[in-house]
Amino acid sequence: TVALLGSAAMAQEGLEGMTIGFSQIGSESGWRAAETSVTRQQAEEWGVNLQFSDAQQRQENQIRAIRSFVAQGVDAILLAPVVATGWEEVLSEAKDADIPVVLLDRGIEAPEDLYLTSVASDQVLEGRVAGDWLVETVGDEECRVVELQGTVGSSPAINRKQGFEEAIADHDNIEIVRSQTGDFTRALGKQVMEGFLRAENGGADICALYAHNDDMAVGAIQAIKEAGLNPGEDILVVSIDAVPDIFTAIAAGEANATVELTPNMAGPAFEALAAYLNDGVEPEKFIITESKLYTAEDDPEGEAERRRDLGY
Ligand code: AHR
Repeated sequence: TVALLGSAAMAQEGLEGMTIGFSQIGSESGWRAAETSVTRQQAEEWGVNLQFSDAQQRQENQIRAIRSFVAQGVDAILLAPVVATGWEEVLSEAKDADIPVVLLDRGIEAPEDLYLTSVASDQVLEGRVAGDWLVETVGDEECRVVELQGTVGSSPAINRKQGFEEAIADHDNIEIVRSQTGDFTRALGKQVMEGFLRAENGGADICALYAHNDDMAVGAIQAIKEAGLNPGEDILVVSIDAVPDIFTAIAAGEANATVELTPNMAGPAFEALAAYLNDGVEPEKFIITESKLYTAEDDPEGEAERRRDLGY
């Protein structure tokens, strides 16, 4: 949980002195930056020598980093995979070298024996929670939705889309009228939303925005304001992550709901690795984190402040 972020450095046992490579996607969002800092903090608590590699959103950089971790002979590898496909060859190389790989926050399409475990949310559920909130909020009213998708080919973009579509499937009054990628970034979220607004009668024909992460929603909120509309009122805003800036927007009435994704994927990953490397205990294949909905009723100012204090 997020509470772990704030805990005073507490020594954890079982990985002291081990070297663990971490291939991180990049720093495309506030959530991603929080995950990086929590992972570093967890590494310190576990006494792990963390080799950090920033892939700047490119799979080829991640593949290169994994090969270099294997050549170095690290004890384990953490991989936050930017896209879902194309991992078989390099993960087979890690397996052949007996180096366990733990996936963080995103899934891959590859045989399950190529990784020890995956620590991630149920991303279909996240989309469903966001969609259910909209269904409940609009009731029987007609609602034309625009969707900002995450990185093309990434598991959260695929699954969050699917979950939201499942939630609205039996509600003919709700329809996704435009859907485009904003690559999980604030800048593209704004730019793509500007296009949606232009194409939808200056925004007058849009009832709601569903963004696959908060950063794109925050960018889109800016675009909505610049178009002379009130985000949160004229256009409902629902997204995923629960970063401080979305709580600030919710507190200001400019966003309506977010689904929390904990940035602490490393804690459960290190626990699984300690049990596996020391005692040969095979962890569950999928370690699933919680997906909780937050709205204006959940003390958004407090949530924003709490997360900032915790190091987001
Ligand atoms: O994989 C998790 C997603 O990646 C987060 O929701 C998003 O902010 C990040 O870029």
